[in-house]
Amino acid sequence: MAISPLTKLSFSDGEFLDIAGRVERETGITMKLSKKDMMYARLVKRLKALNLESFNDYLMLLSSRKGSDEISFLINSMTTNHTLFFREDHHFDHLIETFCPVKRGLSIWSCGCSSGQEPYSLALSLAGNNSETVARSIRILATDLDSNVLANGMTAQYSLDLKSQIPQTYFQNGMVRKNDTCLEMSPMIKSMVRFDQLNIIKPWTLRDKFDIIFCRNMLIYFDHELQNKIISQFCDVLQPGGYLYLGHSESVRNKALPLKMVGRTIYRKVAS
Ligand SMILES: C[S@@+](CC[C@H](N)C(=O)[O-])C[C@H]1O[C@@H](n2cnc3c(N)ncnc32)[C@H](O)[C@@H]1O
Repeated sequence: MAISPLTKLSFSDGEFLDIAGRVERETGITMKLSKKDMMYARLVKRLKALNLESFNDYLMLLSSRKGSDEISFLINSMTTNHTLFFREDHHFDHLIETFCPVKRGLSIWSCGCSSGQEPYSLALSLAGNNSETVARSIRILATDLDSNVLANGMTAQYSLDLKSQIPQTYFQNGMVRKNDTCLEMSPMIKSMVRFDQLNIIKPWTLRDKFDIIFCRNMLIYFDHELQNKIISQFCDVLQPGGYLYLGHSESVRNKALPLKMVGRTIYRKVAS
């Protein structure tokens, strides 16, 4: 018999900590006990759909042979994907001042890109101020761990309600209105961005070195040791003179890294 949507499932602190530990090992995201209600809210429908009567049953499922399929659902449920077009707009002002007019191809990484608003804002900022030939020489790699948000980003379609987040000047060349409720990035803007799944805490290698890395509002979910490790890995794939943009409450703590602060949460790699 299906479990009623109104039934409250039992969820102990120990079960929360077990699931949170599993999430941290897979994603780096740390969750204190204060997040227990949030976890309940994000998972309860799933447990009921699977006809599980308790979070203990869910833990057993995760540890079973079928658990590897469930883990990606768990991960997608636990990531926080809030994002906006042109979020922290001072970063885009800095980008335009520093790189426009673009004189050569640029390689950019939007790490923790969520549903694509950040990489498309990068594409709109740089393409909007340059010719189509130059725009096509700008490559933006957009990565995230969460397969759902990546799928949304790849459609390049957004609710018309988000229009107000995008400066008017980008409308003519950057976007097309698809219908009464939806707008879509233009073919040129789409062609600048490539989406890929990448879990930043697992071993990764990338072919490119980057002129620009945007990694904003992702590191805050990790502990300081992991933040330091990831920022150090960014230094390895950043070109000398390249720029790292972090989120408003993130910073570079390890002073030994070859990064100099050049603006609000903007760092430049010094030649080492
Ligand atoms: C709050 S969003 C930030 C989106 C965008 N950068 C911004 O500032 O608007 C954080 C993103 O980081 C992603 N994320 C969390 N842990 C990750 C990991 N281990 N590897 C890659 N992406 C991760 C989440 O899926 C989420 O989409």
